[in-house]
Amino acid sequence: MKIVVLTGSPHKNGTSNTLVNEFIRGAEENGHIITRFDAPFLKIHPCIGCDHCGMDGPCIFNDDMSKILDAILDSDMVIFATPIYYFGFSAQIKSVIDRFYSKNGKIQSKHLKSAFIATAWNNDNMVMSGIKKHIEILIDYLNLDNIGTLLAKGYGYKGASTENHYMKEAYNLGKRV
Ligand SMILES: Cc1cc2nc3c(=O)[nH]c(=O)nc-3n(C[C@H](O)[C@H](O)[C@H](O)COP(=O)(O)O)c2cc1C
Repeated sequence: MKIVVLTGSPHKNGTSNTLVNEFIRGAEENGHIITRFDAPFLKIHPCIGCDHCGMDGPCIFNDDMSKILDAILDSDMVIFATPIYYFGFSAQIKSVIDRFYSKNGKIQSKHLKSAFIATAWNNDNMVMSGIKKHIEILIDYLNLDNIGTLLAKGYGYKGASTENHYMKEAYNLGKRV
């Protein structure tokens, strides 16, 4: 399968990217082809809602989003990986999701497989409740066939990132694809 990985952390060796690397390791071992886009290091203008695209047409911004959309429309699966910022996606990856708008129907009709990975510093019951709901709604709205969601709470300390059961869970998620 062709898998597009979208990441949203500016920390190249941070917690969410560490789990993504484990996911990729598992998926590549199973022969899947990964195309990765690290949103914080790309030029992606936030959607301004001008509706020039009419939800199915060219965007007024000529930036890195066009290659992300091309890759998604040529893929079988999309992975979303984000640090929790104020109980939700980071702005960097949310900008990518918002820019799905110009290909909204085409993305929906692909019935893509998906997986979500999120990491948060806090370890309480509330910390993942917002993103959990958001992910559920995105799966439904974007017509995704979600194979797994890894919500790694109490996982904000980079030094702990290789000594944590979440590493194994991320690898297993990749192997499950
Ligand atoms: C702007 C900002 C907002 C954050 N908001 C939350 C939050 O709401 N809850 C939480 O537990 N951690 C929060 N954090 C901490 C990060 O989610 C946590 O450190 C995470 O592991 C960072 O992931 P990374 O290492 O992949 O960048 C926030 C961090 C930043 C910089």
